[in-house]
Amino acid sequence: MSAPKEATLQRAPLAVVDFDHVEFYVGNAKQAAHFYRTAFGFDIVAYRGPETGVRDRVSYALQHDAIRLVVTGALTADHPIAEHVRRHGDGAHAVAFRSTDVTADFERAVARGAQAVSEPVTLSDAQGAVQVAEIAAYGDTIHRFVGRDGYGGAFLPGFEPRSIKAAQTGFLHRIDHVVANVGWNEMETWVKFYEDVFGFFQFRHFDENDISTEYTALRSKVMASPSLAIKLPINEPAEGKKRSQIEEYVDFYGSPGVQHIAIAAPDIIQAVSRLRANGVELQSVPASYYDAVTERVGDIAEDLSALRDLNILVDRDDQGYLLQIFTKPLQDRPTVFFEIIQRKGSESFGKGNFKALFEAIERDQAARGTL
Ligand code: FE2
Repeated sequence: MSAPKEATLQRAPLAVVDFDHVEFYVGNAKQAAHFYRTAFGFDIVAYRGPETGVRDRVSYALQHDAIRLVVTGALTADHPIAEHVRRHGDGAHAVAFRSTDVTADFERAVARGAQAVSEPVTLSDAQGAVQVAEIAAYGDTIHRFVGRDGYGGAFLPGFEPRSIKAAQTGFLHRIDHVVANVGWNEMETWVKFYEDVFGFFQFRHFDENDISTEYTALRSKVMASPSLAIKLPINEPAEGKKRSQIEEYVDFYGSPGVQHIAIAAPDIIQAVSRLRANGVELQSVPASYYDAVTERVGDIAEDLSALRDLNILVDRDDQGYLLQIFTKPLQDRPTVFFEIIQRKGSESFGKGNFKALFEAIERDQAARGTL
């Protein structure tokens, strides 16, 4: 028997096909753009601000292969972006998806219970037209639907092209996943949101038995689009002996928000070597981590001593393995950070590394006096 028609429609996935960009609200967009260019190899490709007719904010659009970041700062004290920065510090405000039908996605999302933030609009310039609409997500985070098929401009209409190149680029490829931290007992609410509103499915889940150390624990479920192009893990804190890193995040961010953005690299050894040379701060694990790594993951193509020198982590599942490393927080508050990941057949998230990683984070928490 087929499911009732209404139930089928309720779960039909939205027409979102990939990540489009992530927009950060920051205290100083000019300096943030410089940081992402010099440290992470992003080219500055477009700009919007007073010189282009926008009086209340400045935005720089950055691109590294298929990854787009936007950094935006307010120009006046009473601006909502200034309030966002006051409350959260620098943080990821918008997680945007490329959609093949923005109006239908917005209307379906709202009909399924999402809160509207901005109605669909068509922006256009000499390079073509882009449709944009926005809905609310966890905390003050929003999801933006972007329909840019056929648009030839650098980022969005309203932005002027810029060509401020990074010294070296091409070592990062695309956004692999974007992770939310939510509060105590809120994970299931957001799992249901991505099931009901987006028509996504639960791809993986982890509980405190997978993700705990002597001190801290968390639970995580990974929501994914049907094609797996969009993966959105959702973390909530779990009871441990000391303060969960998820709780620390929520305390510093002031609400749920984006915990990390995972970026796929074509060659993680080259990428991490470049990031280290650029002065990016990365998490490290004790040298003893590598003593047991071959036993745990078996043969891998990479030179183990290179992984050890760079502190790159390895994990394997039944489909293959993956290599990963995490940056330290990208701003003053211990909130959003990047993960660099290279998948070698594995579509998982490095469960075997959680303990080593979280013990590294706990050392930082202890140093901050927040463990
Ligand atoms: Fe991750």
